[in-house]
Parts: sequence; C-alpha cells; structure tokens
Amino acid sequence: MSHRRLLDLRRGVLTRRLRFRDRHGRHLGVEQVRLVHMGDPHLAAMRTTFTAEDWSGALEVESALDGRITNSGVERYRDLNGHHLGPVRTGTLRDDTTVWLRCATIASDIRIAMAARTAAEPPVAVASHLTGPMAAHHLAVEVAPGRPAVVDKTVALHTSRDSAISDPLGAALERVARAPTFEALLAGHVAAWDHLWRRASLDVPDEAGRILRLHLFHLLQTLSPHTAELDVGVPARGLHGEAYRGHVFWDELFVLPYLNLHFPEVSRALLTYRHHRLTRALAAAEDAGHVGAMYPWQSGSDGREETQELHLNPRSGRWLPDHTRLQHHVGSAIAYNVWQYHQASGDTEFLHTKGAEMLLQIARFWAGATVHDPGTDRYRIRGVLGPDEYHDAYPDTEEPGIDDNAYTNVAAAWVLARALDVVRMLPPARAAQLCERIELHSGELARWEEVSRRLHVPFHRGVISQFDGYGDLAELDWHAYRARYGDIRRLDRILEAEGDSVNRYQASKQADVLMLGYLFSPAELRGLFRQLGYDLDDEQWRDTVDYYLRRTSHGSTLSELVHGWVLARARRADAWTYCQDALVGDVADVQGGTTEEGIHLGAMAGTVDLVQRGLTGLETREDALWFDPAPLPELSEFGFTLHYRGHWGITVRLSHGQLRIGVPSSAEEPIRVVFRGREWTVPPGDLLRLPTAKR
Ligand code: BGC
Repeated sequence: MSHRRLLDLRRGVLTRRLRFRDRHGRHLGVEQVRLVHMGDPHLAAMRTTFTAEDWSGALEVESALDGRITNSGVERYRDLNGHHLGPVRTGTLRDDTTVWLRCATIASDIRIAMAARTAAEPPVAVASHLTGPMAAHHLAVEVAPGRPAVVDKTVALHTSRDSAISDPLGAALERVARAPTFEALLAGHVAAWDHLWRRASLDVPDEAGRILRLHLFHLLQTLSPHTAELDVGVPARGLHGEAYRGHVFWDELFVLPYLNLHFPEVSRALLTYRHHRLTRALAAAEDAGHVGAMYPWQSGSDGREETQELHLNPRSGRWLPDHTRLQHHVGSAIAYNVWQYHQASGDTEFLHTKGAEMLLQIARFWAGATVHDPGTDRYRIRGVLGPDEYHDAYPDTEEPGIDDNAYTNVAAAWVLARALDVVRMLPPARAAQLCERIELHSGELARWEEVSRRLHVPFHRGVISQFDGYGDLAELDWHAYRARYGDIRRLDRILEAEGDSVNRYQASKQADVLMLGYLFSPAELRGLFRQLGYDLDDEQWRDTVDYYLRRTSHGSTLSELVHGWVLARARRADAWTYCQDALVGDVADVQGGTTEEGIHLGAMAGTVDLVQRGLTGLETREDALWFDPAPLPELSEFGFTLHYRGHWGITVRLSHGQLRIGVPSSAEEPIRVVFRGREWTVPPGDLLRLPTAKR
C-alpha cells in the first residue's frame, strides 16, 4: 500500500517503511533499518520490524546471502557481460546460527567471503537452507497487534585484499561471531559518522545547505578514512552505481582539493594509488613512442588504459570510434593534486618521494610530447583531446585529435614549472638520488625550462582559442537546436544522429578553456600566461569567459560547476544560476536518467569545494592560508571547519561582511593568514576577524 525510504545523513542510516494488505484484508507494517558500518568497514547490519495491525499469526522470513548478483544497473550495458562472480560455494555452521558464501571475481580473482547471522525477538528457531548460489536462514516469527517481531541480520565481509587476515572466510566467520547486538552496532556506527561530520562540518543555510550535506554524505561514503588503508582510486560515479564500470578518470581533480583540507590521509592514499601505477604509465608512454609517464584516461585495477574503443550513440543506434583516450591532460590533474596536497598538508616527505617521482615523470612526458615549430619558435602539442570531448578530430579528417588545446598546453607549462621547482626544492642528496634513478640530466631540465616558457597558446578574435583552428569552425544555430530538441546537453549525439558532426562547430560539451579559471586564481593565471610570453588582461579573460559561455552545452555535470566557480571568481551576477545547476545535478538528475547509474562524485565534491575554496578565495600556498572572498549575494552566509597542518577544526565563517577564522586551542604552531596583501599570525585559541566589504 505504501513504500517510503528515508536517508538519515547524519547517522548514515537508511530506513524503509512499507505497508501491505493481503487478500484477506489483513494489514502488515514493515520497517527496515540498515547500515554499512562506518566504524568497522567489514560489518553491515539490518533490523526489520514486522507489525501486524489487525491480525495475528505466523510469518515466514528468509534472510539470505545471494550469490546470483550481476552488474545490471545500467540499461545501456545490459547486453554486455555483467556477470563477474565465479563459482559460488555456500555453507552453514553446525548450529545453524551462521550461513556463509564464498566466491571470487572472475577477471581479477579477488576472493570474497561473507558470513551472516540472523536472530529474532522474541527468539525463534533458525533453520539454514543452502540452494544453489544462495545461503539462507528461515525463521517463522509470531506477530499480533501490539506484539511486533524484530529480525536482525548481521553480515561480515572479507576479501583476499584485506590485511591482517588468514583467509577471507575464516575472517568473516570470526568477525560475525564477535559482532555485538544491532543496538551496539548502530551506536558505534552513529558515533563514527558523528566523528566524520565534525571533520567535514559545513553550515550553509536552506536548500543549498541540505544538498551540499547530501553531496558530502556521498563523498564520505565513497572516500572515508577507511579508504586511506586501501589501494583504490576515485571512481567517477562513486560506489553508488555501475556507470563507467567503476572507472577512474580525471575527476579526482575536483575531489582532492576538498579532501586535502579535511582528510589529508585519504588524499595521500589516493595519490599513492596513482604512484603504484606509475610503472604502468611509464610503459604506456614507451609503447606510444613517448617518454615519461602517460597516465590513462580511464583505468581500473592495474592502471592500464581501459577507455572503450567504440561507444554507442543511443539516438542513432550506431557504434562509433571513441578517441577520448587522447585526453592526456589527466596527467596534469595528477601533478596538480600532488602539488596542492603538499601545499595544504605540508607533507614534504610525500612530495620528496612519491610525489616528486610522479611530477617529474609527468613533466617529462609533456616536454617529450611537444614539437618545436621553427616558424613561430614555439612548442606545440598535437593530436590530443581537451576536456571537451566533443572535438575529437578536425572536420572531415580521419586522423583523431586536435592541436594545441589551450587547457592542455597551459597546464603542461604549469606542470613543467612545478617540476623544476621541486628539483630545486629537494634536499641535494635526494635530488641527486632521484635524478640518477630516473636518469634525469641537466640538459633535460634546460629543455623543460625552455618548453615551459614557449608552449603555444592559440588565440582568435581576442579570446583564447580552445584549440588551434577552433575559431575557424562553423557557428551553431543554438537557438534553432534548443527550439527543436529542448535538451541539447548531448549535442554530439543529436548531430551524429542527423548525419552531421559536432566536430564542425564551435560547440563544447563542457568547460575546457575555462578549466584554467578553475585551477588557477586570476593572479596565478596572469602569471602563467606571462611565463609563456602572453599578456592576458582582465578584459581578455572576461571576453574568453563570455565567448565559451555562449558555446557550451553542459553535457557533463562538471561543466556547470566550473562555470559557476569561474563566474563567482569573476564576481559575475550570473554565477548563481550555474552554481544552482551544479547543485541540483544529481538531486534533479539533470543529465536525464544518469543519476540512477551512479552519482557524479566530481560535481558533488566540487560543489562543496566551491563553498570552501571558491567563495572564500581560499588558497594554500607559501605555508599560509590565503583568503580573497568572492561571495555570491545568494549565498552570503556560511561556515565550515578545516583540518590544516595539524590543526583539527579551524573554523571559517563568512557573515555580515566579516570573515572570521578561529584556530582551536592546541600545542601546534600559530597559522599564517594572508588577506588582501596583509599577513596575520593566529595562535591556537585565537579568533581573527577580517572585514570583507569592498576595498
Ligand atoms: C566527462 C569527463 C568525466 C567523465 C567521468 C564525462 O562525461 O566529459 O570529463 O571525467 O564523464 O565523470
């Protein structure tokens, strides 16, 4: 008769409430509360309460471990193989209290074991049934008005990747045997979530605040402090759906800046995940005739390139070649995160070891990938894809890729400059060791320096060109397409289905040039262009922003986020529209049906970071916190806490024309704050108040 689902973000608990009427008119209420334990990640529990409203009698309850699970959550993939679990074995303990199931993933051969206990209140006998790949408990519970029956199921899960175990099944059986009651599990779980929320505290009023906390909840579920113990990357769609088959892209660029200031240990683990796959990235570059590290656009377990070679246009039914693997800018995202992580955390040990190795090898890739153009005496990067995946070739050509994607080239120049900084910063003994190990010579460094100053950035009609020749492409009649199709986010599919190609038009899927305004503050961006020998004044950047605003279809949830961010930084009145679109990306499923295939983790984390760094202008550099608020009138009061260099719970609050920064009492060093050119030192236990009214 009814079905309601309630998600308690604060406690991390999902409740289902159902009401049934059978053919005899008898009513049964069912409430099910479930949790995946945030304190002990190997445990999950579920309490189901059955309430007979107007009858009494017996109910048969089945509580099972089901080995028939397939990956069939994405409709488009249903014809592809979604069967990933190898032969399933099941069993039961002699006293019937515990059933178990054991299997292994087919391709990766990860052994998985689960053990389950089921108990009822009032207590009843539990019988176990093993049928094929299912291991179940059966119980007959008595219910009557005012006398509900409660059934608790507790499950333990271990895999062969877990540390400190003997075998997964033995570990699962032992853990479930020692698991406490449901009440105790719930209490421990809620306490663990409470600790998480304190580290991620965010106070934004109204609807925006509610959505942001939902985003945080998803982020914390996917990348919790437990992640720091695992060899895992940032899955683009969280752990909540099967789109992209769990693949890791560049989306961590939108996730780590948030984690750096709350859970630096998680950031470090995610960067270590990339470091573990550095050898693979070196091999990929070598196979492609390059040097250094060529990180994959899409990857999974071992870090090999796993981007599909064909993709389906559901509109035309045609399978088309997919060249998105040419998005080598993913390497710059990793380098950027290495640098940002160090700036935020002060973890020099990481920067000097794993961080430096990645940064230097990515820089080496970029320097090697450039070709010198004697005509202009500039270096060029040809045959790549930028973040805008629409343009994968020049019109009417067979050769995939475009030349001199501005984002790729400017980011590469930044990577080269930071790699040179790192070589200079390293203690001499370490620098010598590293250079010897990776065979880096002064001649190569000189070339990096040269390339970092002479990379080509194309311009047309006074704006930065997305890539060389972008300005020569045809203009699209946006008005006509919107009128004809309504939603034109996936313009590429629309045009292909019409027998045309988006490659012919000045039309972008997502922020590409404007990504530069997301990564770099206006001052930094100006400096970068200066380094490259170009003058980028405010007016030129403003014109560039306007130019691409009119030519972007927002076919990725990352697009509106970046636009909101860039416009807020430029203090533009239309910033809020984009921020709002970014906020509702998943709650309103704006990409039309993609949310049920998995949440968009980059956009979710990015919106929270938009409040944290975007609206406060927060930068972590030169061992200080820099602020330069760019408040949105629509979101002018908010606060959050930060974890910065050993200070747990620095409070930041913007309200009533004031920015307040509170440093909690501790034995740590004072922090340095830079605000509009002036510097303050704030000792633990102090509160700094800064007026934010216009200068
Ligand atoms: C976007 C990429 C993104 C990927 C995974 C694509 O639609 O264009 O930028 O990395 O989704 O989220």
